[in-house]
Amino acid sequence: MPIAKPANQVASTITSQHLSDRVLEIQDAFEVSPTKLQQIVAHFVEELKKGLSAKGGNIPMIPVWVMDYPNGTETGDYLAIDLGGTNLRVVLVHLLGGQKFETEQEKYHLPKGMRTTRNRDELFEFIADCLEKFFYKLHPNGIEKGTLLPLGFTFSYPASQTRIDTGVLQRWTKGFDIPNVEGEDVVPLLMDKINEKKLPIKVVALINDTAGALVASRYTDPTTEMGLIFGTGVNGAYYDRVGNIEKLKGKLLPDITDESPMLINCEYGSFDNEHESLPRTKYDILIDEQSPRPGQQAFEKMTAGYYLGELIRLILVELYEEKQVFQKYSKDSEQIKLLYTPYLLDTSFLAEIEGDQDLENFPEVVRLFQEFLKIEPTLDERRLSRALSEIIGNRSARLSVCGIGAACTKMNIKKCHCAADGSVFHKYPKFPERAADSLADIFGWKEQNIQPKNYPIQIVPSQDGSGVGAAVIAALAHARQAKGLSLGLAEAYKKA
Ligand code: BGC
Repeated sequence: MPIAKPANQVASTITSQHLSDRVLEIQDAFEVSPTKLQQIVAHFVEELKKGLSAKGGNIPMIPVWVMDYPNGTETGDYLAIDLGGTNLRVVLVHLLGGQKFETEQEKYHLPKGMRTTRNRDELFEFIADCLEKFFYKLHPNGIEKGTLLPLGFTFSYPASQTRIDTGVLQRWTKGFDIPNVEGEDVVPLLMDKINEKKLPIKVVALINDTAGALVASRYTDPTTEMGLIFGTGVNGAYYDRVGNIEKLKGKLLPDITDESPMLINCEYGSFDNEHESLPRTKYDILIDEQSPRPGQQAFEKMTAGYYLGELIRLILVELYEEKQVFQKYSKDSEQIKLLYTPYLLDTSFLAEIEGDQDLENFPEVVRLFQEFLKIEPTLDERRLSRALSEIIGNRSARLSVCGIGAACTKMNIKKCHCAADGSVFHKYPKFPERAADSLADIFGWKEQNIQPKNYPIQIVPSQDGSGVGAAVIAALAHARQAKGLSLGLAEAYKKA
């Protein structure tokens, strides 16, 4: 197969000709040219619009009933919880106004197997247990009778919201697979457990992590237009105008006008589920086929941290079967059994391989292979792994920013900050540079000789989104309620 591109630097040092040819082929399959990026963005814009239409589309585009911009004057004490892939974070946020806040927090490790427990009660009981521990740590003697602490629940899965304090899970993502939660409102599921413990706590807002990142950052930086997560999953949030959201037409109380802003949780991990524009490789297809939800989250499966380690594992397995690597280990050896274990390698494996500074010996790569796979990699295998990490990480960054390209194009935003959070953004070396470079490819900034530090759309680290964002959203909701304004569909108010 003719290969147009030169190998990346490390790949060109691989001594085995056949292996280095294979790396070139893989590099080619993972390549996303500037033209391709622009095509993907054009398709993405159409899909965002479709998601807002009455008919709907693949991208859920969920209105989350935050209809005000924070301005840093919000005050009050709020509890926040954030259910992540590996931890539950519980935070007490003191919003002090003047764009200032203080937080007190605890992290609780999600027990092994919780992501796929067969009993949904276990998950909600665990959350309530953690809240109970945190509450009594703060208030060993309880609080004044009759008072309720407002809680913002950061629940980072696609949840439809008829009001700000509800959320019906559409489907699990990121490897969570707990029965009897999809199709259910998760707020009463949690409130039942909180009430069983007689805790004076009430969920006042359900929040997506992207919405939290946007609102928390906007509390201190008014130029923030998007909240982004590049982590275990991938997603973005932005403010649209109610008048643009066709699917809400005729369903709102008169206090919400066409001109009201509306925060949208895009849930664009599901972009291109129909496989029209994303350049999928055979490894992407395998990941999808072997996942608990084939056909869903197409964009997320090519970009997010949950899947990046699996991509390198699948490639290494293929090269093992081609007798290109790890030939001193037989098929029934412990090492190769580990290699054949799905999802054994997480993003840290790739991120840390890329972080190895010693390109002669790759001591970090040796350590990681020993730790995860008990394999002693040869020098060629170390170079190969480094090259693959760069190829996979680069593609993830390039594709990830198509969501920014699409939302900014749709809203005609030419200049802004996008507040980003998540393990891939923070831990993957070069992710921020690669992401900025890809935005420049999308918007043609290089042709205009704009220097990276002057790129008009800048991805910046978000404020502590899941705590502060939840608190600010709860404060905004409280202020709206105090004025007697609605925070959901007219229908949800009639029923309430
Ligand atoms: C979820 C989103 C979330 C994103 C980042 C996706 O899998 O569906 O709700 O924002 O991960 O955590």
